[in-house]
Amino acid sequence: MSVREEFDQWATSGKDRGMEDRHWHTAKHVLARMPVEKGDAVVDLGTGSGYALRALRERGIGRGYGLDGAPEMARNARSYTDEVDVGFLVGDFDSLPFVDDSVDHVFSMEAFYYAADPHNTLREVRRILKPGGTFYCAVNYFEESESTHAWQEHISVDMTLWNRSRYREAFREAGLYVAEQDVIPDREIEIPPAEKFPTEDWESREEMVDRYRTWGTLLTVGVAP
Ligand SMILES: C[S@@+](CC[C@H](N)C(=O)[O-])C[C@H]1O[C@@H](n2cnc3c(N)ncnc32)[C@H](O)[C@@H]1O
Repeated sequence: MSVREEFDQWATSGKDRGMEDRHWHTAKHVLARMPVEKGDAVVDLGTGSGYALRALRERGIGRGYGLDGAPEMARNARSYTDEVDVGFLVGDFDSLPFVDDSVDHVFSMEAFYYAADPHNTLREVRRILKPGGTFYCAVNYFEESESTHAWQEHISVDMTLWNRSRYREAFREAGLYVAEQDVIPDREIEIPPAEKFPTEDWESREEMVDRYRTWGTLLTVGVAP
């Protein structure tokens, strides 16, 4: 199944809003760290419901561009805001529809690892960023977070499983400095007491703690020279 088929289904079944609710627990901390200034141009790769750009508009960014490979995601995102300075477009991480040195910041939450060629996507991000521009790349699916590995079995799109150092190396290979790397725990999700396990989703409490409190979201920040 293609990105379009897989994620159009998610959008039409309302999963885009569900992701927004869950991802917000850590995405809001990632967004809070972004050094956006009034008037900045920001691209959100794999925008889903578009919540990140709505939040950044409240901080005064200029133009926001939410790119997504699933037309239904982009359509839904458009319907969730009246902001004329935020636009949603259908496109692929392989070829970003922006000219060189034109964007102040790129954000991406839980989307980068779906890129067919993640090294090429990083080079594309580097190409469109202005000197000093940043890429805030946040993922929940990464090697150290072992309980996430099974996700691939439930998704028809190939996913890239990198560890922390692989992310840093790949950013550098694409010509980005690595300014920061961090894991941001999800402290909001409720974890039931041990006697409630196993649950529908979790074998043990330890596994759930590992997923959310120990690892959570991996953030890698690249800066264009
Ligand atoms: C797991 S969702 C995350 C959405 C949103 N960023 C969030 O935090 O809720 C991943 C999104 O990336 C998009 N996506 C996946 N692969 C893509 C690709 N190669 N090009 C463009 N968009 C892609 C999907 O359509 C989907 O909307």
